[in-house]
Amino acid sequence: MAVDAERIRDFVSYLRDLGIYEMYRHGEAGTLSVAELLGESAVTAQVVQAAPLPAPETIRRVTERPAVAPLLTMRPAAGAGMIDPRVPLMTAEPILESSIPKPIPFDDLAPLPEVRVAAKDKVAALTLIRERIGDCTRCPLAYAGRHTIVFGNGDANARILFVGEGPGADEDASGLPFVGKAGQLLNNMIGAMGLTREQVYIANIVKCRPPGNRAPEPVEANTCSQFLLEQMDVVQPKVVVALGSTAATYLLGVKQSLSSLRGRWHGCRGAKLVVTYHPAFLLRDPRQKGEAWKDLQMVMAELGLKAAAKG
Ligand code: URA
Repeated sequence: MAVDAERIRDFVSYLRDLGIYEMYRHGEAGTLSVAELLGESAVTAQVVQAAPLPAPETIRRVTERPAVAPLLTMRPAAGAGMIDPRVPLMTAEPILESSIPKPIPFDDLAPLPEVRVAAKDKVAALTLIRERIGDCTRCPLAYAGRHTIVFGNGDANARILFVGEGPGADEDASGLPFVGKAGQLLNNMIGAMGLTREQVYIANIVKCRPPGNRAPEPVEANTCSQFLLEQMDVVQPKVVVALGSTAATYLLGVKQSLSSLRGRWHGCRGAKLVVTYHPAFLLRDPRQKGEAWKDLQMVMAELGLKAAAKG
């Protein structure tokens, strides 16, 4: 059965933006698990009978969830009719939850610096962080087709820091965060708050583009987030806006639905943090723009900002 990978990826992104992750990791009997699909640019997928589970003593599960082996096996699509059915399919290994690193709240990663960087020194401090990152090869994203490291940009003294997930194709090409379609919408959101993009700081959980715009893997996010943490400690925003569930997950160290995280204040590196929908999600489901606007209004009330006049 050929699978339209693009459509599945869109659908999974949609669910992920709502904080629904489980189908990403766990195939249910008789359904497609799309996890493996997301990392591949072109695959042909087949539902086959479930691979046998490893012997129970070799599995240490951390949840009560019934053990389900992935049902999806894949082989690269070599073009219509080019797959030799006699060649055995690659069978994915089951992913055990105990082997997936847990996100750690940014507040637990390091104590807040005792001496804060002065406003006049922030640009230089950010430049030093960028230099330390260098031509980074600390995580697998360095070898996954990245062209440019997207460090983040904006006002080093910004009161608001927007944190997204990771660069997409446009960002990877330009080296700047949020310059594609989602970026246009983010610009509009910032404008509606009575601000310009130059007045805020924008960064991502990971600085290199995950292939196929998949969500960063925990090891990638955990490796990269030390630098975002340092950027946050330099900029010292009053408010952090977590754009979507990946940002919320790694900043707060919790894996919960967006609906349970939205609508209230959290804390992160001395700033107040609010969770809202990712602009890419809002492009897919514009009906939620009103909800996102409520989140931004919380930020505006906190910082005494007035909405831009319409027109
Ligand atoms: N999506 C993100 O999360 N970040 C970007 O920089 C662009 C799109």
